[in-house]
Amino acid sequence: MTVDTLRKFVMPEVIFGEGARMQAVRYLDNLGVAHAFIVTDPGIINAGWIREIASAAEAAGISATIFSQVSENPRTTEVDAGTSMYRENGCDGILAIGGGSPMDCAKGIAILSTNGGMIQQYEGVDQIHHMGPPLICIPTTAGSSADVSQFAILNEQEKLRKFGIISKTIIPDVTLVDPDLLSTLPEKFIGYCGFDALTHAIEAYVSTGSSSLTDLHALEAIRIIGEALPVAYHERENREAARQMMLGSLHAGLAFSNASLGLVHAMAHPLSGLYDLPHGEANSLLLPEVIRYNYLSAQARYNRIGEILGASEEDIQKNGVEAIIGVVRGLAEKVGISGSLGDRGVLRRDIRTLSDHAMVDGCIVTNPLLPDVEEVMRLYEAAL
Ligand SMILES: [Fe+2]
Repeated sequence: MTVDTLRKFVMPEVIFGEGARMQAVRYLDNLGVAHAFIVTDPGIINAGWIREIASAAEAAGISATIFSQVSENPRTTEVDAGTSMYRENGCDGILAIGGGSPMDCAKGIAILSTNGGMIQQYEGVDQIHHMGPPLICIPTTAGSSADVSQFAILNEQEKLRKFGIISKTIIPDVTLVDPDLLSTLPEKFIGYCGFDALTHAIEAYVSTGSSSLTDLHALEAIRIIGEALPVAYHERENREAARQMMLGSLHAGLAFSNASLGLVHAMAHPLSGLYDLPHGEANSLLLPEVIRYNYLSAQARYNRIGEILGASEEDIQKNGVEAIIGVVRGLAEKVGISGSLGDRGVLRRDIRTLSDHAMVDGCIVTNPLLPDVEEVMRLYEAAL
């Protein structure tokens, strides 16, 4: 066996099901946390979830300090502010509650609290030397999967760029996946986050880092999300659809955390860095063009994805990649996603900068076909 064929699969302890969030106190206690640092955002506080969990922690004798100054695309300055607050309050463990933004910010705080320095110095793969404090996540969107992944994506505002940190040390200890929490997610984020999860599964499945272990999760994620996403979007009271979306997102996260991603994410990150565009929205607008670009380099795999999402064998035989793009676009339309990057204010004059950033994004490495910068520019142009 050569090194190229070695594969590793890592994941946190997972508790899945309605009410899982209330296990937070038990796990804080199990992990020896006496003063929890809760990282969240204002929307989650307004939804009432924090009050419930913080009171339960305090009733069990665990103090809680709440940090909620986290933007939609979490910033390095917010990681710094959070780390200072963590230290000043003598915290000894982190509980992240929210979407990808609070969870990625929490991972940044975990890194700095034990490694020191500036968060930018940990950019890239395996640059972290010391394990962080205990980290428990409670995801509130069915999309980012930051609660299971070894990725943290942060925004360096001064340089208008996003960068990635990839390390086994930032895989949370525990994730409490509770479908009840989807009930307060605004409708449009059900669509965008669902498409983020779908993109995770598709990119993991065609990734050059995929394996039979990650394929299992990627294919199951595509199947579940394809069926459940329109129902979860249109029927907000449908608890089974919410449950399925949380499960689909979990499978997608397990796949991409271990197989990595591809060109959609490499191109989406600069859009969020430069324009602060929500991550799932950026992915959903880029996915069709990247499928067209990649198709011939992973044809059988894309055909399988198309079949799972409802394209007939006949349609795929006759129309090839257009059949796959057709079912992906059809799913997007069912959840209110339409339009282009240009509609979101993306300017032609920025395409070169966006493309330069995409070319150095870590996610591009495992794309099935490695583009040059002109090809990336053409793909942004096509999605404009
Ligand atoms: Fe993503």
